[in-house]
Amino acid sequence: MKTLLRAALICTLPFSASLSANDHLEQRVKDSREAVQSVARALKGNLQSVLQEKGPAAAVEACSSIAPLIALTKSKSYGWKISRTSLKLRDPDNAPDDWERAVLEQFEARKAKGEDVNKLEYYEVVEMDGNKVFRYMKAIPTREKPCLTCHGSNLRPDVAAALDKHYPNDKARGFEAGDIRGAFTIIQPL
Ligand code: HEC
Repeated sequence: MKTLLRAALICTLPFSASLSANDHLEQRVKDSREAVQSVARALKGNLQSVLQEKGPAAAVEACSSIAPLIALTKSKSYGWKISRTSLKLRDPDNAPDDWERAVLEQFEARKAKGEDVNKLEYYEVVEMDGNKVFRYMKAIPTREKPCLTCHGSNLRPDVAAALDKHYPNDKARGFEAGDIRGAFTIIQPL
C-alpha cells in the first residue's frame, strides 16, 4: 500500500510542478493585462481633459511630458518596466529593442491574417543581461477619435507645428483607424 502511494506521488509530482509553473505564468499575464488597462486609463483620462480644455496643439505639449511620466510612475508602483513602443516612432525614447521589434512585426503579420487588433498580445520568459525576465506586449489599436488628430494624415497646421517642434524625426503620422499604432510593453523581473 505504502509503495503504491509513493509510486502515485512520484507520478503526480512532476505534473503538479509543471501545472504550478503555468499557474504562475497565468498570474503574470493577468497582472500585465491589468497594468496595461491602468496605464491606458491614465493616459486616456489625461488626454481627454487636455484636449477638451486646451485643444489639440496644447495637448501635444502636455502629452510630450505627461505620457513618459505616467509610464515612469506606473513602472515604479508595479516594480516593473512599463512603456510604449512602435515600429513608427514619435518619441525616440520609445524605440523598440530587438525582442520588441520582432513582436511588433509578429503583430502586423497576425493582423494581416485577420486577427482582431484589439486582442493581439504576446508573452515569453526570456533572458536579458544574464537574468530571466517575463516580457509581455499588447498591441495598441489606432482609433479615429482622438488618435488621428495627432497620428493621422491631415493634421491641423497648429498640431503639425507643435509636433515638428518637439519631434523633428516624427514617424508617427499617416495612420488610419484600425492600424496598429504600437504596443504596451512590460518587463517583469523573475
Ligand atoms: C494631442 C495629440 C495626441 C493624440 C490625440 C494622441 N497622441 Fe499618441 N502621441 C502623442 C505624443 C506627443 C507622443 C509622444 C509621447 C511620448 O513621449 O510617449 C505620442 C506617442 C504615442 C505612442 C508611443 C510610441 C511613439 O511613437 O512614441 C503611442 C503608442 C501612441 N501615441 C498611441 C496613441 C493612440 C492609440 C492614440 C488615440 C487613443 C493617441 N496616441 C492619441 C500625441 C498624441
